[in-house]
Amino acid sequence: MIKPHASDALQPRFVGDEITRQALLEEAQGLPQLLINSAAAANAVMLGAGYFSPLPGFMNAADAVSVAAHIHTTDGLFWPVPCLNLCADTAALNGAERVALCDPNVAGQPVLAIQDITSIETLSDAQLTLLTEKVFGTLDANHPGVATFMASGRQLVAGPLQVLNYSYFEQDFPDTFRTAMQIRTEIAARGWEKVVAFQTRNPMHRAHEELCKMALTALDADGVLIHMLLGKLKPGDIPAEVRDAAIRKMVELYFPENTVMVTGYGFDMLYAGPREAALHAVFRQNAGCSHLIVGRDHAGVGSYYGPFDAQAIFREQVPADALEIRIFEADHTAYSKKLKRVVMMRDVPDHGMEDFVLLSGTKVREMLGAGQPLPEEFARPEVAQILMEHYRQ
Ligand code: ADX
Repeated sequence: MIKPHASDALQPRFVGDEITRQALLEEAQGLPQLLINSAAAANAVMLGAGYFSPLPGFMNAADAVSVAAHIHTTDGLFWPVPCLNLCADTAALNGAERVALCDPNVAGQPVLAIQDITSIETLSDAQLTLLTEKVFGTLDANHPGVATFMASGRQLVAGPLQVLNYSYFEQDFPDTFRTAMQIRTEIAARGWEKVVAFQTRNPMHRAHEELCKMALTALDADGVLIHMLLGKLKPGDIPAEVRDAAIRKMVELYFPENTVMVTGYGFDMLYAGPREAALHAVFRQNAGCSHLIVGRDHAGVGSYYGPFDAQAIFREQVPADALEIRIFEADHTAYSKKLKRVVMMRDVPDHGMEDFVLLSGTKVREMLGAGQPLPEEFARPEVAQILMEHYRQ
């Protein structure tokens, strides 16, 4: 199986030994408590679950700036998005060396992790601007990722973590949330070698289904890992439990048995386009995947990124030896009225835009909201039905 990022073995920060975990939970009661924001909690979950291996914890300002500016930490590790614990107020820490991080996304705000504090720094305006611009490619506060980042505070609490649970993900998505360790184990148990990851934060329609099938065939892969985002999204995006149900129905009805693993990971969407795509590649490699599908407007929002910028970053900014995982570049994919099947546009140069069945996300939401069935060329009827029920409620 493909090696984890930049090391021979995964280095998850979850405390697997139950006796140690209980002792740490007890210790946490006597430590200063810091209520972290959702982005930091999601980073903690990803560190715990091995996806962010080999990072030990939250970055300091020098690493954050280095990652933003050069896509590498100060030690030379390839890393595309700073992994930060940003807070508005750290007065409660008061010189402490260890802090219990409390989870903003679970009732009662239980302890999620214990952090060793190696530094607390205040980011300057210039540093905040640089981080925002490099990671998101824009300073526009209307960008949902920028808005969240700007509202996070500017106190940077750096240091390694011991992660004590997986926040709400295990309870809310017991069949779908998986750690990188679990996915590696499952890939090994299935005897798969070549595994294509499909990142998604949306329900999967015909184009997405066919993208996975095209990648399977073109790469002669053993299977597809559908790996959906289970964390926070911007308003209007479809909730994870609805997407999960829709994706499971599609796989059940339209994929050959034993070719797909339906899984999810606990992270909040950044909408950072190319940089998030590079991060996606890092954590799919950590999960044991040999390839990642990157199609049109991967991890994008609005018109902040060019439709294929998330592919270009791998050619232009990711050094050839930085990652072992390979990118399966997908062109815009849609149903051809002429050929009566889903195709990649680059494969049908004789087609005009009018030859495809194309629906914008807004149009799809409008139709589902109005109880109108989606065209069968666009969405599987069983999938559309699940989405329609969601909108009806
Ligand atoms: S994402 O934010 O998670 O990237 P989404 O779930 O919509 O959004 O997309 C999942 C993957 O499918 C991404 O790699 C995206 O580029 C790709 N994709 C989605 N729709 C199309 C399409 N019509 N043609 C080509 N690629 C697509």
